[in-house]
Amino acid sequence: MALLIGGLATSHIPAIGGAIHKGKQNEPYWKPFFDGFPPIHQWLGKVKPDVVVVFYNDHGLNFFLDKMPTFAVGAAASYSNADEGWGIPTSAPVAGCPELSWHIINQLIAKEFDIVTCQEMLVDHACTLPLKLFWPNDEVAPVQIVPIDINTVQFPLPTAKRVYKLGKAVGEAIQSWASDKRVAVMATGGLSHQLEGERAGFINKAFDLQFLDSMETNPEWATQFSDLELVENAGTQGVELLMWLAMRAALTAGGSGVRKVHSNYHIPISNTATGVLALETV
Ligand code: DHB
Ligand code: FE
Repeated sequence: MALLIGGLATSHIPAIGGAIHKGKQNEPYWKPFFDGFPPIHQWLGKVKPDVVVVFYNDHGLNFFLDKMPTFAVGAAASYSNADEGWGIPTSAPVAGCPELSWHIINQLIAKEFDIVTCQEMLVDHACTLPLKLFWPNDEVAPVQIVPIDINTVQFPLPTAKRVYKLGKAVGEAIQSWASDKRVAVMATGGLSHQLEGERAGFINKAFDLQFLDSMETNPEWATQFSDLELVENAGTQGVELLMWLAMRAALTAGGSGVRKVHSNYHIPISNTATGVLALETV
């Protein structure tokens, strides 16, 4: 069976793409953010995942407000990127893993998740930038991906409880995949931020740190909150932390525990409190 080796999570702010493109990683504004990654690069160099299941939210590139799936799973052999308006360079296409996609899709449908299956899927900054951050020296990340989109852009959103169940079911699907591949799960988005309205610029450090701590010690902690409570605590775009919850839930499959490889928290990049995390299953 496939081996679920661990989980990765990072913020996915578009400006990161510009900073990488312009080589600004060591400038004082950017360094505290990029400094969160080298220990995770070392770990990835050791554990070498073959496939990464990416929980992310599409921001209007592949799905727009007229058609908004709650959960959508990619089943393509390759995923192309386009700039959806941030002025950042377009990334080269990333390889898919249709075998694992279809296994996950079959398992999710069997467990009564009504997902959308996408044999063609464009991926935005929320998928491409994290791959660049975790594999900075590769033109294209040396992995196959299975992108799983969770709607956090148009209400009604899935509840934290539902997202946790989805993540756990994805973890169980990975562990029941008849393959010798090494699989990691990845979450992108968060932590607290709000880009519009009266609370634009809202950041909640106390909540973020408790959430980060829960990733290690109490994975179901965030499931106590309704989506509106998550918005209140983390901001309208801070609800992207639902992706982190799905990633963490996947790692509980089969009764696995986790060991923290590394984490980093830095305020601000753009309007966002940034978080980075790697967890290894034990
Ligand atoms: C920003 C953050 C996001 O999560 C996003 O998708 C777009 C922009 C920002 O902080 O600028
Ligand atoms: Fe976002």
